[in-house]
Amino acid sequence: MQTLSQVLKASNAPVALQDVLTTTTNTCIDICKALHKGSLAGILGVAGNENVQGEEQKKLDVISNDMLKSDLMSCPAVRAVASEEEDDIVPANTNGEYLIAFDPLDGSSNIDINAMVGTIFSIYHDQGEKPATEADFLKPGTEQAAAGYVLYGPSCMLVLSTGQGVKMFTLDPEKNEFVETQESVTVDKDTQEFAINMSNQRFWSESMQGYVNDLVAGKDGARDKNFNMRWVAAMVGDVHRILCRGGIFMYPWDSKDPTKPGKLRLMYEANPMAMLVEQAGGKAHTHTQRILDIQPEGIHQRVPVILGAANEVDKCLSY
Ligand code: AHG
Ligand code: MN
Ligand code: MN
Repeated sequence: MQTLSQVLKASNAPVALQDVLTTTTNTCIDICKALHKGSLAGILGVAGNENVQGEEQKKLDVISNDMLKSDLMSCPAVRAVASEEEDDIVPANTNGEYLIAFDPLDGSSNIDINAMVGTIFSIYHDQGEKPATEADFLKPGTEQAAAGYVLYGPSCMLVLSTGQGVKMFTLDPEKNEFVETQESVTVDKDTQEFAINMSNQRFWSESMQGYVNDLVAGKDGARDKNFNMRWVAAMVGDVHRILCRGGIFMYPWDSKDPTKPGKLRLMYEANPMAMLVEQAGGKAHTHTQRILDIQPEGIHQRVPVILGAANEVDKCLSY
């Protein structure tokens, strides 16, 4: 079995990109260790402040953000970082070639119940003479050089794409390194499993309500087959399930808060997950367009997300 560094060396990824990936994933190993200490390290619970998006920050949101930020700042290949937990982008090295956007801890409502969380990252190539600005980050997801996540679950896993398919790695905690455990990940076109937060049902559009009603009706309804439902409440866990055994995941538009067109963030969640899902043969759309084609208007922009099994995403969009 090959280690992550062996896989990266054998790939045709530029050395600077390999450095960024090594730095990011090494920090994730440190985050994983901090998570494992849990209450023993006094790191559970709320931090006592809100992020720029008005969400309550957990201590571990702040800790993992600070760890990633400081490690990436000292990686010469990094030009700037953007984070769900930072108001503005943070310029790093003017001569750096890569921009990294990340959700340092996805699924933070799971922290206090010892359930799955993860780190999601999205990497763009971008060289310039001047310090980076927010405008440099506003590129469509099709331009991502790499995307991935680290899932802190019963085992710690890295799922990565540099644009040539998707690979899965498992952390060997004794050797402190990721080892490739699945060389090529694919998502079946059809599925009988869906993921959505059903408590938002009354806020969805009429067409989304119609689609989900038909899934729930199963064999007795228009779809003529039964569906199972799962919701991890951490996108990283729900997308991981889809990459492992298929399915469709939705966080659609809802009318709960008219200022938010969706819950999930384009740059830190939707784009990197869309790249992984497409690279595995699935689809990732909003209700109107392919996620990777969206021209971002701001780093903290939110979008509706419908992703997973290609035929099922098409079916959903047909409503
Ligand atoms: P974050 O913890 O980074 O704010 O993201 C949480 C997101 C996403 O991971 C998950 O799919 C969704 O919020 C869960 O939403 P509900 O609370 O509506 O279940
Ligand atoms: Mn998140
Ligand atoms: Mn987060």
